[in-house]
Amino acid sequence: MTHDKIAVVDFGGQYAHLIATKVRRLHVLAEIRQPDDPIEAFAGFKGIILSGSPSLSAFGEDDVYTKAIYDLDIPILGFCFGHQEIAKHYGGAVVHGGREWGYADLHLTSPHRLFDGLAAVEQVWMSHYDSVTAIGPDFVELGYSSLPGESAVQHRYAAIASDALRRYGFQFHAEVDDTLHGSEMIANFVLGICGCRPSWTMEQFIAAEMAKVRDQVGDGSVFLLVSGGVDSTVAAVLLGKALGPERLSLLHIDNGLMRRGESQAVLTMLRELGLGAQLNFVDASDDFLAALAGLTEPEAKRRAIGDTFVRVFEREALRLGIAEHLLAQGTIYPDTIETGGTKRADTIKTHHNRVPIIQEMIDAGKVVEPLAELYKVEVRELGEKLGLRHDAVWRHPFPGPGLGVRLLCSTGREDREGFHEVEPALAVVAAGAGAGLRLTVLPFRSVGVKADLRAYEHPVMISGDSDWEDLLRVAGTVYKTVPGINRCIWNLGGAAPETLRVLAATMTRERLDLLREADAIVMDGLRRHGIYHEIWQCPTVLVPLEIDGRGRELVILRPINSERGMTATPYRLPDALLGELREALLALEGVSGLALDLTTKPPGTIEWE
Ligand code: XMP
Repeated sequence: MTHDKIAVVDFGGQYAHLIATKVRRLHVLAEIRQPDDPIEAFAGFKGIILSGSPSLSAFGEDDVYTKAIYDLDIPILGFCFGHQEIAKHYGGAVVHGGREWGYADLHLTSPHRLFDGLAAVEQVWMSHYDSVTAIGPDFVELGYSSLPGESAVQHRYAAIASDALRRYGFQFHAEVDDTLHGSEMIANFVLGICGCRPSWTMEQFIAAEMAKVRDQVGDGSVFLLVSGGVDSTVAAVLLGKALGPERLSLLHIDNGLMRRGESQAVLTMLRELGLGAQLNFVDASDDFLAALAGLTEPEAKRRAIGDTFVRVFEREALRLGIAEHLLAQGTIYPDTIETGGTKRADTIKTHHNRVPIIQEMIDAGKVVEPLAELYKVEVRELGEKLGLRHDAVWRHPFPGPGLGVRLLCSTGREDREGFHEVEPALAVVAAGAGAGLRLTVLPFRSVGVKADLRAYEHPVMISGDSDWEDLLRVAGTVYKTVPGINRCIWNLGGAAPETLRVLAATMTRERLDLLREADAIVMDGLRRHGIYHEIWQCPTVLVPLEIDGRGRELVILRPINSERGMTATPYRLPDALLGELREALLALEGVSGLALDLTTKPPGTIEWE
């Protein structure tokens, strides 16, 4: 069955993914396209939505993209930057300035089917620097914006349309929930103007994907690595249904980077799911630790883990006599986009599903990826439809490289690169932060993301007491204004550290055991306080930083809210839980301090490496 589908052009940030998820919720397939994709990549769509952009301006080299899309005879709707591009392309004018940020009211001045069923004044969300000041001859203004609750014109051309050309633009972001009826507006475009039939349902996805898998695998068999995470588990169940458990060889590798007791729990769960027929297990922790020995640089560690996975499964495949099988992976849609998929971005982090050897196998048609079209929330929906237990479907995501990206390693050399620039800028923020707070740059780095690019930069530690909102405000000021900083953590140990010492530390079993212990304490605390399912993830990170000579490791907690894992905000843990964690974690032998990560993504990524 072919579906009617919408192309969403990704002008950066996470807007395009949000738009795509909103379209998919209407049971219409949406696919992401890059701005410089060739025009052929836009064939077969019933409509196009141009996303906004976090950094682009409708001026200069940023507005170079495949403009041949405007020659296509299908409807196009633009949001924010996309709206400005449409206005400009058809003879309108865009200027720098006229910034609006936050809630606004949209006052509809001409009735239009884009706003069918909506009121004359609608709450919308604005976030723009440039503004449309004139529209071309084919266009009409559908509405203007005002400050919330007022009626004076703040901005003309908040929504524009040309029904003759079938081109439309919204200055506001219809895809965010702060635009109260944004989903209705998107539905009016997708189902109404583009005439898409809502055929993309989970039931049909299951049927179509099973047929696709059977087609690709023929009468062969498939080999799948199962980590126990949601994605590989759902993939296993789907493949098992499509091929039968006897044609699905599962391998769970204990890479030594798993959580405490995780491997046994995974094996039990897979057996309970009826997938025990060809379930294999190997403890390869020695291989992984050997490959990681002495490595400290995050990308080198990720590569070593990815390569070792491949080596171990090649060895095991030979041992199990399944080397001819196709390789299956639980790769999901964002994974294919975050690494290298986005032409505008360099590699933020190498995804272990996309290391070069795997890429070669993909190119040779030897890899089956039944979830590659789905977002996480859709994988979870699929899991529930396939009968997985609620807690298996809703467990926190756990990265493929496991604790390997949460256990920072160091040569012991202090990394003070750029401190001469950081320290004066930090002093300025500190002066405005209030007397009770001290800010310290830490002499090591972690991975983050700024303007879609990898940022390997220093964290700042805030010490002292203040209320949560104030801490977030100070943290935000630090990572937004101080160059070379991509994270802020709050020292839960109290006073600012007098001495800081980075210690030489590599990936050892002892350090991993300590991290496992700390992680188990944190996970147990989240469950006991009934907030495990309220948050997206809570990595516990260990850094070989000695504070005041108390121990060797600094423990950092990273509880976050997120929708798709592509952006995130810090989650406020209850005070009672923080108190318990402080007591339990600081009591662990080898732990010198405890801190809480206050960083949004961007500029910090969820994982520290
Ligand atoms: P970051 O750290 O990039 O993480 O903000 C976004 C989400 O992806 C998970 N993550 C990974 N998952 N393999 C995975 O399967 C990986 O290499 C990987 N790196 C990060 C991370 O836990 C978060 O949910």
